[in-house]
Amino acid sequence: MKIGMLTSGGDCQGLNSALRGVAKTLYNEFGNQVSIYGIRDGYRGLIEGDYHKMEPRDFSDILTLGGTILGTSRQPFKEMTKARDDSEETKLEKMLATVKKARFDCLVILGGNGTHKTANLLSQHGVNVVTLPKTIDNDLWGTEMTFGFQSAMDIAVSVIDSIHSTAFSHSRVFIVEVMGHKAGWLTLYAGIASGADVIVIPEIPYSAEKIAQAIERRQESGKRFSILAVAEGAVSREEAKMSKKEFKAAREAMTHPSISYRLASELKELTGQEIRVTIPGHYQRGGIPCAADRLLTSRLGVAAAELIRDGKFGYMVALQNNCIVPVPLSEVAGKLKTVPPDGEVVRAARALGLCMGD
Ligand code: F6P
Repeated sequence: MKIGMLTSGGDCQGLNSALRGVAKTLYNEFGNQVSIYGIRDGYRGLIEGDYHKMEPRDFSDILTLGGTILGTSRQPFKEMTKARDDSEETKLEKMLATVKKARFDCLVILGGNGTHKTANLLSQHGVNVVTLPKTIDNDLWGTEMTFGFQSAMDIAVSVIDSIHSTAFSHSRVFIVEVMGHKAGWLTLYAGIASGADVIVIPEIPYSAEKIAQAIERRQESGKRFSILAVAEGAVSREEAKMSKKEFKAAREAMTHPSISYRLASELKELTGQEIRVTIPGHYQRGGIPCAADRLLTSRLGVAAAELIRDGKFGYMVALQNNCIVPVPLSEVAGKLKTVPPDGEVVRAARALGLCMGD
């Protein structure tokens, strides 16, 4: 049996641990009846036929290693079926040709939203595919938790923890901008876990006036500082009413380097205070996976290998009710899992007295 493995899209903690989980289980199950090939830099390697045979030793000592030993790249889904003219092969056709030429019996694909759209496309074109849900954003439909999320949350929490002491010393207002793309999971969870005072997420459009009032209320009650956890994808109430086109134009015209800087200047205007911004950025995706992600990736890796053993293809392995279950790729592809604005976790944040920006 020949298996091709690839990691695609933004990297995160736990990718190597997941690859290890799949490989170890396959080697234990099939011994030398299985050959595993590493496809370099995600779909780029599949498009260009860039893959290499791996050995069991390649999967040793990588449980705690950050990044991905296979490399990764972003290959937009919409480019997969485009060609300049009839004579040019599409990226999809090139990938199908690689699968055929390499005689891969199955592809194991680790990725997030964009990756899953392409994985589903490959599956629809007859490729045997099994996927694992990866992203610090936790925005993949069909799974309660993606791997990378909990490690990134730990980092965002430790940044906000550190900011607390400086905010206290200087009696200042701080904004910490948290990654998460268009979903607020990372900001919401890290914000609660670190005791932030205000949490701003894309799913709840913010009002600068309401946030300013929350900061002033804290000051009036004798609090020396306020910390705001702001999602990189946060939008204002005014922006939420705009069409897609208007929103794009407004953001292109924005002179601030990110939404946090814009909010900081709005709040400075409203409260008369200096507001400092900290952006941990890609730091949130790096380094060793936390214990919870090592466990999750190991469980997902075993489940993916078991699907291959059972000849069940076209599935993503997912976490549901603390069990690992297969979810059809056709159900996952193209759907975003966002934070329910009146869900239990948002209600918990409000019950704790946090301002959710509205
Ligand atoms: O999807 C993971 C993520 O880190 C998002 O949170 C962020 O918006 C994006 O990737 C950043 O992308 P890039 O690494 O391409 O700059």
